[in-house]
Amino acid sequence: MPYAIQGKVISNVSLNHQVYRMEIECPDIANEAYPGQFIQIGSSNEASPLLNRPISIARIIPGGLQIMYAVVGPGTLQLSRKQEEDKLKIIGPLGHGFSWTAEMKKVLLVGGGIGVAPLHALAEALYEEQVEIHTILGFNSQKDVFSQEQLAKWSKKLWVTTMDGTCGIKGHACTPLEGLVSISEYDHVYACGPKPMLKALAKICNTRHIPCSLSMEEYMACGIGVCLGCVTRILNQNQEETYERVCVEGPVFSSREVVFDD
Ligand SMILES: Cc1cc2nc3c(=O)[nH]c(=O)nc-3n(C[C@H](O)[C@H](O)[C@H](O)COP(=O)(O)OP(=O)(O)OC[C@H]3O[C@@H](n4cnc5c(N)ncnc54)[C@H](O)[C@@H]3O)c2cc1C
Ligand code: FES
Repeated sequence: MPYAIQGKVISNVSLNHQVYRMEIECPDIANEAYPGQFIQIGSSNEASPLLNRPISIARIIPGGLQIMYAVVGPGTLQLSRKQEEDKLKIIGPLGHGFSWTAEMKKVLLVGGGIGVAPLHALAEALYEEQVEIHTILGFNSQKDVFSQEQLAKWSKKLWVTTMDGTCGIKGHACTPLEGLVSISEYDHVYACGPKPMLKALAKICNTRHIPCSLSMEEYMACGIGVCLGCVTRILNQNQEETYERVCVEGPVFSSREVVFDD
């Protein structure tokens, strides 16, 4: 059940030139949250920005949540200015996050840009279940890299890719799958990132019959299933195209369900 509460900022620190990590005291939400879910944050007490902003739960910590966000516009800029003890309107936990089974032995996590954020809670949970985790983190450039050390703690192997080659392997997040990493060794692939990355990964996993969960992003207004602003095209069990709400039925969908634009 989602709660609408006033959370208290515990800390808000910069991780690179664009990304911040905030810890928020919100025990009710933290008690019910699981990896891959998100919260809606009202960054302002003023009229603008009017709408709450959807932000993934990066980690669940004692009595609260950790989020990681990129400053891209007015809402996230206001978030970056919040200080310890400041209050924030929060609704959550929202959506259907990642799931896993006791049979899984080895998984691959793929994160692109700020899509790396929700992989933290998942990696931590799977590590506790003694699942072997391999991780690929994709960024544009070295200056954009964040959380490499933190995710390395839970990952047996970790690769960083950058588009300009300034850090790790040159190329996009799927580049290691073109030879370095064999997709068939994994029981499951989990990913979050830009749509072109998810589309490429879905194609690889679907072709090789590897189960793959994708965390999708759409513009969201209400975040609770009422406005239909976040619908995305999905193939239902009868293989018919339909629409589902990313905020309620998602944000995590199977790669076999998602219909990507050509
Ligand atoms: C389920 C979900 C989880 C998310 N998790 C995170 C997270 O963990 N960390 C994080 O930094 N961001 C996350 N986002 C994206 C985040 O919600 C937007 O970046 C934020 O709303 C931007 O608000 P703003 O006022 O700063 O900028 P705006 O002025 O609203 O937008 C600035 C720029 O970002 C683009 N943008 C805004 N929202 C989205 C969106 N939903 N999808 C694609 N592009 C968008 C706009 O087109 C514009 O170019 C998530 C989005 C969804 C739907
Ligand atoms: S954001 Fe309103 S229905 Fe999903």
